[in-house]
Amino acid sequence: MTQRLTGKIAVISGGASGMGVSHTRRMIQEGARVISFDLNEGAGPQLVDEFGKDNLIFLRGDVRNAEDWARVVSAGQAHFGTPNVLVNNAGISPLQTLEKVSEEDYRRVIDINQVGTFLGMQALIPSLRQGGGSIINIASTAALVAFADLFPYVASKWAVRGMTKAAALELARDGIRVNAVCPGDTDTPMIRAIAHTPSGALPPAADLPFKRWAQPEEISAAVAFLASDESSYMSGSELVIDGAFTAQ
Ligand SMILES: NC(=O)c1ccc[n+]([C@@H]2O[C@H](COP(=O)([O-])OP(=O)(O)OC[C@H]3O[C@@H](n4cnc5c(N)ncnc54)[C@H](O)[C@@H]3O)[C@@H](O)[C@H]2O)c1
Repeated sequence: MTQRLTGKIAVISGGASGMGVSHTRRMIQEGARVISFDLNEGAGPQLVDEFGKDNLIFLRGDVRNAEDWARVVSAGQAHFGTPNVLVNNAGISPLQTLEKVSEEDYRRVIDINQVGTFLGMQALIPSLRQGGGSIINIASTAALVAFADLFPYVASKWAVRGMTKAAALELARDGIRVNAVCPGDTDTPMIRAIAHTPSGALPPAADLPFKRWAQPEEISAAVAFLASDESSYMSGSELVIDGAFTAQ
């Protein structure tokens, strides 16, 4: 493993599960220090145990809350120094249809996936502009195509992809790069919970071009690349990691 992330201080939302843990592991393996936060604070002690307190701090926080973002940034600053990477990874993907989803449930998905991403980017701008920062927004193949039974999720992820491009243009003048990652089905608690949609809108893994889901580590490799200076001229783009699913 290279040490190309030495000197990087990364804030990762939704760091308690699935890809959030995998991104944390990969970043630390490559030399970064990580400020991880999640609604699920129970996961914190185990993460600090695995990665060491010199490499990771873990906080309870809600991406919907601007005060939590401010707390995360100042805790990171106090422990490691000014953050220069943000991974907006927290998200939810409940099975909900346009016809049946309540307004409250629709707004909940938009609040976490879309507004949470907005609040994260806004909170980190002052830090990121100090040193060629990189924002990585975790979108989805649901930001490129649509899936039935995931109406609010698709809406939120298309928004994240658009927000990524708008932010990339605005923040170019501050030397901040903003990119999206669009994973296909990836083996985490999230996809296991929705693998069988009522209409079969999500194909079984065996029907995918690669005949399998992605492993979280295969997505984390792209996140590490976007966090690193190797992607120094890349902004406003998306990296699609879907085993040719959207090529069909
Ligand atoms: N797994 C997939 O197939 C897949 C595919 C494409 C995109 N994604 C996206 O990847 C990201 C990570 O998903 P995952 O599969 O690892 O899911 P996961 O459910 O394993 O982890 C998501 C984490 O986000 C946290 N979270 C939820 N709401 C939060 C909030 N309000 N504030 C703070 N943390 C919160 C959860 O507690 C959980 O730890 C999500 O944005 C998801 O939409 C996942």
